[in-house]
Parts: sequence; structure tokens; C-alpha cells
Amino acid sequence: MSTNTNNLPSVEALQELANQFFKALPEDAPKEFSFDPYDHPRATAFAKSITGEGIVPAANVPVDDALVQAGAPAPFALSDPFGVITAPPSVSGLGASSSITNYNNVGDIPGTIEGDNHLPSENTPFSTGNVPVSVAGSGISPSSPDYSTKGAGTGLTPGYEQTKSDKSTLSGGVPSSVAGSGASPSYVHQQEDFSIKEPVTSFPDANIDKQTPGKQHDSFALPFTDEQPYWSDIESILKFIHISDPAVNTHAQTFPAIPDANTPSFYFLQREQLPVSNNTLGGFTHGFDAYKIKKDFPILNEKVNGKPLVWLDNAATTQKPQVVIDRLSYFYRHENSNIHRAAHELAARATDAYEEARKKVQQFLGAKSPNEIIFVRGATEAINLVAQSWGDQYLKSGDEIIVSHLEHHANIVPWKRLADKKGLILKVIPVDDDGQILLDEYAKLLSSGTKLVAFTQVSNALGTVTPAEQMVAMAHAAGAKVLVDGAQSVSHMPVNVQALDADWFVFSGHKVFGPTGIGVVYGKEDLLNSTEPWQGGGNMIQDVTFEKIQYHKAPNRFEAGTGNIADAVGLGAAIDYVTKLGMANINAYEHALLEYATHHLKQVPGVRLIGTAAHKASVLSFTLKGYSNDDVGKALNREGIAVRTGHHCAQPILRRMGVETTVRPSLAFYNTCEDVDRLIAVLRSHTK
Ligand code: ALA
Repeated sequence: MSTNTNNLPSVEALQELANQFFKALPEDAPKEFSFDPYDHPRATAFAKSITGEGIVPAANVPVDDALVQAGAPAPFALSDPFGVITAPPSVSGLGASSSITNYNNVGDIPGTIEGDNHLPSENTPFSTGNVPVSVAGSGISPSSPDYSTKGAGTGLTPGYEQTKSDKSTLSGGVPSSVAGSGASPSYVHQQEDFSIKEPVTSFPDANIDKQTPGKQHDSFALPFTDEQPYWSDIESILKFIHISDPAVNTHAQTFPAIPDANTPSFYFLQREQLPVSNNTLGGFTHGFDAYKIKKDFPILNEKVNGKPLVWLDNAATTQKPQVVIDRLSYFYRHENSNIHRAAHELAARATDAYEEARKKVQQFLGAKSPNEIIFVRGATEAINLVAQSWGDQYLKSGDEIIVSHLEHHANIVPWKRLADKKGLILKVIPVDDDGQILLDEYAKLLSSGTKLVAFTQVSNALGTVTPAEQMVAMAHAAGAKVLVDGAQSVSHMPVNVQALDADWFVFSGHKVFGPTGIGVVYGKEDLLNSTEPWQGGGNMIQDVTFEKIQYHKAPNRFEAGTGNIADAVGLGAAIDYVTKLGMANINAYEHALLEYATHHLKQVPGVRLIGTAAHKASVLSFTLKGYSNDDVGKALNREGIAVRTGHHCAQPILRRMGVETTVRPSLAFYNTCEDVDRLIAVLRSHTK
């Protein structure tokens, strides 16, 4: 064998060896060494399968069958209590999703979804079978099809003045965060001495113990169950709430009327009976049984500080039912692959699972098409996407953006940054002292200069439900586009984006019982397709040359790179779960529970409720006289009760309400009156 000066085999010798090796293979040997992939028999067969010439695709084989044949267990037969989650069919061996044919955004490249390794198509120089020759010195890409170079108000927030005065009353002003330590600003503000290196779940709380020397509190005594008639009231309500058939779930809003001052607070006892169906959930056939639902969530069996966990931090994140955990595990055990890219079986399974999840989101939101559903990392990324794509493209100096005073920082910061960058005017819809949008003030802000209104459907800090449909209609009447932040609404109420008519609607998967790291931008299809992509990379393009890039239409247009495939699939399972429960049922049950909790919380001496809108969901922000909010959070934690304390990433609205931070219990459908009783018992035990 010839060698080079380093005594290693020469390139020519290696090439000769390789050719001998391939020629020795009976089926697969290339005729000659060649760059032309069509010369390779396997490549030829594959190419024909893609273009459809003379190849009949394998029949759809349900993954379960294939797995059973391969001796794999069929996990959903055991773990899916609904019996509805089945692994999707795949187009075996093609790497093409069975749902791809539903997409009309594939463009001119027949039979392929853009991939990093798709076969050369007829209209590219590669199809000649020659190695493309570079055009040295011309600056023109050899792959360019035509070798052409062408184509390459006042603005002040209503709380601004108040913020300044707040600062003067705070010792040291607004506390700064301790970057990288994991310590929250409120810890610094409270001057707590804690070690992030040795985290503990039971915080010493000298302050509270001093106030209640020797007091032993039994959190399981449920003092109010005997004292108050409300638990039996709730039980009687539960009889009226039945699991509805998701197939007939109309997504209609079913909020009960808000009582006036003279109406007894438990007006919902008179609610009309909801439709009854024969659907089952977890083995029971009627009634909304939060205790049985709780059993679907393994983490709710945890003990914290020796006490059963009570999870009342649902506005921060929700817990995950077993079906979601199983779905993620199933994906990684049986489906894991990149999507839209390869010719193998797992690529087909993963692509199908991902696109199926997109359709579930579409149906959950009542969108017209799956093309209107873009997967992103969460609501924050979703809003940044709209700001940095549509906002950057269409807004110009002097244009006005309106947000509400209720917004989470995620719906303030991206717009403020854009406003600063482009000279836009940011205006703020004020709220009243209960935390309700002042619609007449909003009307005054709207003008022909308004190009965008962005607001939340439910406030994460106060729980206010905004009159979203009316606000969208008012913005449209002024000619503005509208983004609705649904991060805190989709888990508590039915949402229909067509009825709402928002131009964009965003939410996070982890707040609706799905995984973290996955979220959604809904956008009207025409609007998405007339917006420049946000990020560039693989998956979002139809064709790339150095001179010209052709983008896919939505949704791929906005999904550059490898997305969070498994967690999108997990989100689909979470949507199946809540849909089975029925969003209208969830809404009715949680409303009753919120009324119950509000009633008791208001009666605890020293409690100030922050956010008392007539129309609320889930959230009960409060302060307790004589205690810091962190003290209250720690005392609750000692009893196994998880709530969030702090500014809830919504500093402007808390300052508008005259506080920097609150204690914030937040409810979900797996919470019970017993959970609320335990919360109230801890608060009462420290105020007697
Ligand atoms: N946005 C989340 C909350 O309200 C994290 O807690």
C-alpha cells in the first residue's frame, strides 16, 4: 500500500480500499465511485419512494402493533385511564409524517419537508449528477439556481408616580436581586440569612413562633368543616357538575353571573344543572370528584415537612398527571427522533406525535387550522416572537402600543424594549382599586395611532379576568392588532380564539398540566404568513442558496431548529386530560372553590386581599398584618402548603395596589376545600 511521508496510508490507497470493499457487497455496491447519489441502489430506491415512482408506501402500521411484534410492552394499555391515547400511525420507513399531507406549506419541493439532508430535487444543480463547480471569485454560490445575486399619549404608566413614592417608604427601595445565587429579591429585602448551598424545605421562623409561644397547630383538624356549612354546600354543588363529553364541549363561556351586594355569596347553588354524560374518568362515572382527580397526580402524594403536600402555587406552575408523565416516557422509549428530516421509522413516529400534538392544541383553542399553532418555549418566548417579528417589521416611530396595568413582565418588557428601539409610544390601561380594567379609560387611549393592544386574559398577580372579547373588539374598531396573553387563563376556562378574535393568543404548557419548556403562539394564518420569520435556521426554510432563501409558511416558518419535540407531545397529553375533564366543568368547580376560599380568607384577622375584582380566576393574593409575606410563606411551608410569595413578575400592578409583594395561593381543579381549610388554619393559628 502506498503511504505518505508520515507513514500513513495515502488518500488514493484508502479510496482504492473503500472501492474494493463496496464492490464486494452484493446488493449495495455502487457501480463506480461517484458523487451522484442516484448511482447508489439504496439511494435510488429511496429517491423513488420520495417522488412516488413505482414505490408503494408500506401500509400504516400502528406503532403499538409494531412494538408488540417486537416484544415491547404496550404501556398505554395499562397507564391511560381514558383509553384514548394511542400511539399514532406512521408511514413506515418513509420518514414522512402521515400528517404531512395535511400541510399545504411544503412548497415546490415534491414530497419533502425541508431537512438538512433531503435528497436533491430535480430543479437544483445537484440533479445533474455532477459536483457543482464553484464560480471562483464571482461571489456567487454554485448552488444558486440562476446564479443571480439579486434578492439577497404621555407614555407614562399610571403607577409611575406611585412607584416613586413607594420607593421612598421602603428601606433601601426596591431590593435588587442577587444574580446567580438563586436568592429572590424579597429574601434580600427581608435580610434573611439562608444558604443556597444547603437548601432546606423547613424554614426556621422565629418571628411567628414568638407570636404564638407553645402553640401546637394540627393542620389536619379542619376546623372549618365542622364550624361552617360550606363543605356540605360545596358537596351539593359537586353533584351538579358532571363530566361532559369532550366531543360536545362547545368551548362556550359558562361564567355564572356575578352577584350583586344583596345576593347571597353562594348564588351558584342555584346554577342550572350541567349536561350529564356517561363518560368516565379514573373509574368514576359521575360528578367532579377532586379527590379522585388528585390521585391522577403522583406528586400530590408527596409529604413536605411530614405533612401531605398542598399545592397552592398553580399560577407559577401546575402539577402533571400520570398520563403526561407516561406520554413523555413513552416518547423517549419508543419514538425519540428528530422530526421532518429523515427517512427512518422513528422519524416518522416522532413527526406524527409532534404534529398530532399541534392538532390537539388547535382543537383546544378552537383555531381554524393547525398551521396557526406555533410551538415555542413558553408564553414569554411567544410574546417576544411577536414583538421581534411582526412588531419589528410593521411598527414605526410614533406608533402606539397599549398594554394594561395588570400585565406580567413578559407582556411589558418585550414591548418596552421595542418601543425604546423604534421610538414607539407605550400607553397603559389603568385599573380601579379592585384591579378591574377601566374600559372607559381604555377607550380614551385608543386612536388611529394605536397599532397594537396587548393584554392578559387573567392577571397572574390579582386573578382579575379581563373583558377580553370586548377589549379585542374595541382595539379592532380602532384598527389595531391584538395579542392576548392566555398564560393564566387556559387552565381555568374554555378559550375559543375564533370567538375571541385576537390576532395572537399565547400560553405556556406547564401552566396547563403539561411539561415545562413548551408553549404556543396562536396567530391568524394570513398574519403569520405575512410576517417575516423570527429566527433563522433549519426546518423553517424551503430552499437555501447563498443568494436567496425561500421560507416555509407557518407554522414551520417560526420553528427554526430542533424544537422541544417530546414536551410538545406531553402538552398534547395534558390537553387530552383537561379536555376529558371538560374545561367548562373545571371552570365551574374552581369558581366554587375560589368563592369558598375568598370567604374564609377575608375573615382571617389582619388579612388584606389584594385584587378583589368581581370576576376572578384561581388567584388569592393577600398580605397578613404583622408578618412579612415571606414569613407567611415559610409558616405555610412548614405545614406542607406551597404558595408563592414575592412580586409575581408583575411589579407595576402590585405597586398600583400599594404593595411590593404579596402571599399568593392559587387554585387548580385538584384542590379541595380541605386544602383551603389547611391554609386558613395556619393563618388563623398565627393571628389568634
Ligand atoms: N408567571 C408565573 C407566576 O405568576 C411564574 O408565578
